[in-house]
Amino acid sequence: MIACDVVQMRVPHGTRMDTLHTIDDLVPWHGCTFVPTMGALHAGHCALIRQGVSSGHPVVVSIFVNPSQFAPHEDFNSYPRPLEADIAAAQAAGAAAVFVPTMETIYPTDDPPVTPPLPSVATAPGLEDQWRPDFFAGVCQVVARLFDLVQPSHAVFGEKDWQQLQVLTAIVQADTSRFPLQIISGETVRDADGLALSSRNAYLRGDQRHRALALHRALQIAQSVPDVQEAQQAMLAELAAAALNVHYAVIRDAATLETPMDPHGPRRALIAGSVDSIRLIDNGPV
Ligand code: PAJ
Repeated sequence: MIACDVVQMRVPHGTRMDTLHTIDDLVPWHGCTFVPTMGALHAGHCALIRQGVSSGHPVVVSIFVNPSQFAPHEDFNSYPRPLEADIAAAQAAGAAAVFVPTMETIYPTDDPPVTPPLPSVATAPGLEDQWRPDFFAGVCQVVARLFDLVQPSHAVFGEKDWQQLQVLTAIVQADTSRFPLQIISGETVRDADGLALSSRNAYLRGDQRHRALALHRALQIAQSVPDVQEAQQAMLAELAAAALNVHYAVIRDAATLETPMDPHGPRRALIAGSVDSIRLIDNGPV
């Protein structure tokens, strides 16, 4: 059965990159630096892989479109799955192996994986947790399962999904015996015009891409307005001018994502909204 084989891809210069499918395939890679993804790799993912390479450990990239983090009305079925291009991109960025598990490997029906308890940053802030109520339960379920299988020493996640990064950091900190690993964060990679790269940018048509640039402009405005309330109002005005349906545009404590904020601690501006039916998120320091 092909899905159970380790497929060794011939790549330029005579080197090989492994494509791993099974739990056993992963054993030689325990202790790696791990970059979990849902595929449709873009320059943001590739930057995380390159950052992982600089950790000095071989980098394993997983590609798994996780059904449990999609709501029924979301795009699980239509999510792009360009597997061959993804494998080539991961390899070009320096990955040593790509892990492409089956649904049964991640969610064995006879032995369901244990999902860690959700930390408060996954339930309290009223941000992604409010707009995508089952999202973090799904993310934590799959990432915990992937950590159990891959057993990495390091895992790299992007700041693009700031709340996800805080949630996964909290889960690792809450159970260091199950997750003896270090989380590395990677800065958001943007197009030249400022739009944060996202697999969902491919859905933007016509003037939608131009309107989506309001997210980045709003984050820049937030940086230039010292008063929190005024900055939030200014972000909302910028997003409204581009006719975005705003889900939130707030400034929060960068770690808890709640208010009140530590007066001396780092803060983060976080935005989510939709351009017609295309939901986008972005964030930045203030
Ligand atoms: P995915 O959306 O494929 O993102 C994989 C990783 O790439 C995440 O850590 C995300 O924050 C990061 N990323 C996305 N866009 C980025 C950008 N423009 N710059 C830098 N990093 C970026 O996030 C997920 O998948 C899933 O929820 C996952 C964690 C894999 C669990 O299924």
